[in-house]
Amino acid sequence: MVRPVATAGPRVNSGRYGRPRAQRRPTSTTGDEFPTGRRGLTVSAGARYSHPVATRSASFAHRHLVGIADLDAAAIGVILDLADRHQAIAAEPVKKLATLRGKTVINLFFENSTRTRTSFEIAAKRLSADAVNISPSQSSAAKGETLLDTAKNLDAMGPDVVVVRHAMGGAPHLLARTLRCAVVNAGDGQHEHPTQALLDAATMRRHKGQLAGLEVAIVGDLAHSRVARSNLLCLTKLGARVRLCAPWTLLPPGLTELGGDLTRERSRITTRLEDALDGADVVMMLRVQHERTAGEAPRFANPREFSRTYGLSARTLAYAKPDAIVMHPGPINRGVELAPDVADSGRAVILEQVSWGVAVRMAVLELLTGSAEA
Ligand code: NCD
Repeated sequence: MVRPVATAGPRVNSGRYGRPRAQRRPTSTTGDEFPTGRRGLTVSAGARYSHPVATRSASFAHRHLVGIADLDAAAIGVILDLADRHQAIAAEPVKKLATLRGKTVINLFFENSTRTRTSFEIAAKRLSADAVNISPSQSSAAKGETLLDTAKNLDAMGPDVVVVRHAMGGAPHLLARTLRCAVVNAGDGQHEHPTQALLDAATMRRHKGQLAGLEVAIVGDLAHSRVARSNLLCLTKLGARVRLCAPWTLLPPGLTELGGDLTRERSRITTRLEDALDGADVVMMLRVQHERTAGEAPRFANPREFSRTYGLSARTLAYAKPDAIVMHPGPINRGVELAPDVADSGRAVILEQVSWGVAVRMAVLELLTGSAEA
């Protein structure tokens, strides 16, 4: 149940934007719900996304979001449907709802981040939660405290959600087993990055209507990419087929086995870019993550050679469908995996991905705290 925020300060929307009048709760007594049909309200709430939104108690039974591996297609659908409703808030003059009022979200980021950390913070603030950001250089981790001790101390302050990014695969799972609050994985080593896959799915759904039947090429440094792993799981669960493309030196063994029969049947590996792109509906390019191989033997001769063989240019994009979209989780290494003219072209939906990130994270925070409005 959403309660309006009281009295002073900026006005907070007590209800939802973009909801057809018939579906609106008739309980607003404040009169500050947006009227139906206001600018930007119907962007993504049209006929394409008419599914009802469910609360955690109804069809989202998860306490934590540590990986796409734990979600089934229905749970992913609940998150995406709720994100659809939140996407329109970015166009509103007052970008605020009251659903997480009085709740505390801690962003605990042990790895660098621009997009993801800011996106979680904005998502929490747009829902009126108190958002606290902690990075290792400011925390006692720098004094030798273990991750678990740091997390337990934060948990003792009574947050509702801890969002964690850590270089160690499995770190969020460890916290989820230990803490009382909800835990969200914002990227664990080379393992999973579930909210990135969800925002990617939301972006694809917006452009392609549905994911079932889509041919998605994921190209680049698959060895170190948590984005690739979460996307492989998410896309195949939603009925898409995935072509995974990288040089052998950046291809982890067993990648297509990640999700058992599902990924085995719905994904394939190729080392030829043209083969991966041929007839693709979506092309997702990944950055070469040099920071994860520091001190190791190089995986390819040099960035120019990588770019010539695996980079997406106007020439190689022509192998994909004429209406194929180009995606990238960021940060882009311009001129390496992605030619600047393609990155800046109308085919690229990279900034849209970023904007969906806020909507998806709002949905995740609401669902995990049981605050989603029925
Ligand atoms: C990615 C990450 O950190 O896993 N970026 C992101 O979260 N948007 C990919 C990358 O760093 O290349």
